[in-house]
Amino acid sequence: MKKTFAFITLWCFASLVMAQHHQNSKSINIIPIPVSVQEGMGSFTLLPTATIGYTPTANVKAIAQQVQQKIATATGFTLAEGKSLSTATIQLQILSKRDIILGKEGYRLIVTQNTVTIKANEPAGLFYGVQSLWQLLPAAIESKHIVNNVSWAIPEVTILDYPRFVWRGLMFDVARHFFTKQQVEDYIDEMAKYKFNILHLHLTDDEGWRIEIKGLPRLTEVGAWNVKKVGYFGTFSPPKPDEPRNYGGFYTQDDIKDMVAYAQKKFVNILPEIDVPGHSLAAIVSYPDLSCTPGADTYHVRSGEEIMDWSHGAPPVALIDNTLCPANQKVYTFLDTVFAQVAKLFPFPYIHVGGDECPKNFWEKSPAIHELMKKEGLTTMEEVQSYFEKRIETIVESKGKKFMGWDEILEGGLAPNAVVMSWRGMKGGIEAAKMKHQVVMSPTTFAYLDYMQGDSIIEPRVYATLRLNKAYSFEPVPDSVNSKYILGGQANLWTEQVYNTRHLQYMTWPRAFAISETVWSPKANKNWPDFVNRVEHQFKRLDIEQVKYAPSIYDPIFTATKNAGGSLQIEMATEVPNLQIHYSFDNSFPDQYYPVYSTPLTPPEDAVMLKVITYRGNQVMGRMIVMPIKELKKRAGIQ
Ligand code: ACM
Repeated sequence: MKKTFAFITLWCFASLVMAQHHQNSKSINIIPIPVSVQEGMGSFTLLPTATIGYTPTANVKAIAQQVQQKIATATGFTLAEGKSLSTATIQLQILSKRDIILGKEGYRLIVTQNTVTIKANEPAGLFYGVQSLWQLLPAAIESKHIVNNVSWAIPEVTILDYPRFVWRGLMFDVARHFFTKQQVEDYIDEMAKYKFNILHLHLTDDEGWRIEIKGLPRLTEVGAWNVKKVGYFGTFSPPKPDEPRNYGGFYTQDDIKDMVAYAQKKFVNILPEIDVPGHSLAAIVSYPDLSCTPGADTYHVRSGEEIMDWSHGAPPVALIDNTLCPANQKVYTFLDTVFAQVAKLFPFPYIHVGGDECPKNFWEKSPAIHELMKKEGLTTMEEVQSYFEKRIETIVESKGKKFMGWDEILEGGLAPNAVVMSWRGMKGGIEAAKMKHQVVMSPTTFAYLDYMQGDSIIEPRVYATLRLNKAYSFEPVPDSVNSKYILGGQANLWTEQVYNTRHLQYMTWPRAFAISETVWSPKANKNWPDFVNRVEHQFKRLDIEQVKYAPSIYDPIFTATKNAGGSLQIEMATEVPNLQIHYSFDNSFPDQYYPVYSTPLTPPEDAVMLKVITYRGNQVMGRMIVMPIKELKKRAGIQ
């Protein structure tokens, strides 16, 4: 009895020590992982008496106010301004002598028992240091209301941090589904916390034109509106003539100015994209003269019905002409008006002109195009697009901006100063970099946030899958190119199937964590198991913030094969460690008392359903997955 008691006491003590050690070694869980983190032994605790001091410039004051506001919201503490910078509890300091290592966006964050100091060359660095500070504080700092009984403790630590790339982008498609100014600003808040600095707004597409252009009122009177449909986008029945076209919206120029100013406070630049010459149905419906096709005045803004045939590969065949006409001078006049206003509204030095997925079949039928080809010595439709892109480059540059497009702009000859955003894998980016052009890598293979995050049996269906671990393996600089041409990387969130902000968040997180670490952190600091652990800490923060994320990493990966005897063999794996997969074949719902998967399974003869759920110990982690045996047989090629 005594012995047992002694053993239990020892065991408890050992567990406590281990738990503490465990906690200490994991108390710093910043995403993206900083360049270097040196943890001390003690800790700092934020108290109501804390003060804040900062280098007295307007930009730094604005950051200090963000700090005061967030602390007040979650803790209820009103941080007074300290008597001097050096005596304040939280110090935001612009270095008087430039620290070469830090560059424009780097920072040093030093937490001692009594002070938190962030030092940087420029305000951007202070802002990023503050984002790291939030992640050092307890997760409750993300609360939107005051949380009592929290010890606002921070481990003693010295952090040195700066980004790997200048271009750390997220693309938000506000054309397929319109999102309000407020929703865009909320998205900016989220992305800035993970040190993204570019929000690429995809402002125009077949489904909507989202930006007011003075002098071209039909773009937003007509081009911004379609019929709301749900189901599988691309397969919707064509709207009937009497269905109301009241789904959509647009940003006024004042809205754009507000968004740009809001983004600047979060050190985010907005990159505008006007997608031409393909994906232009909304513009053509507004001004049918912009197409090469007579009869375009009968067109409607797309509501998700089929308008392109992809069965022959790229470029797609358009079923109705959604392309601007490169042989029509009116198109260049139109784009001159558009780009002049876009250039004024967005201070970012680049304008993205799209260029992707442009069907050529209506151009092939156009006498005007053939005339243009003869006159300009063009021999292919790709050269026709290239002719168009070069003229657009001239227009964009005449507005004082850099011309950027999707990698299709390489086809038929790249415009002289074009910046290429490589989306069809890395190939286009490599080709452009070898031609000494600037490149942003945003390949579907690693960075497409519209793809499913797990098995199609449970995820909202999209035509491709990108799991978190694959997104995390994104490396924007291929071995074969000079890294100086790679500006950075970007993840793209197309919204054909994204109707609301909850799903927008679900599709973004946690994959955007993987991209943020890829574009901010040193390559050598990336480590998948460690990242997963930090992702799980971030999940707790997102819960408190009430931001949705995909729990797909907790669901199993199914592999169905035909064994030597011709019957179905099922293997299951998990993307993240320390999960048990519990399953049933008897149609009942498995829980932690059900068998744990360990070796490949062959379903009982008449089983119709494999039901699966993951646990970590007694805690349910994954979702209940109901997988028909029929579906697995289909995947294995068994009739
Ligand atoms: C693209 O995904 N069409 C650029």
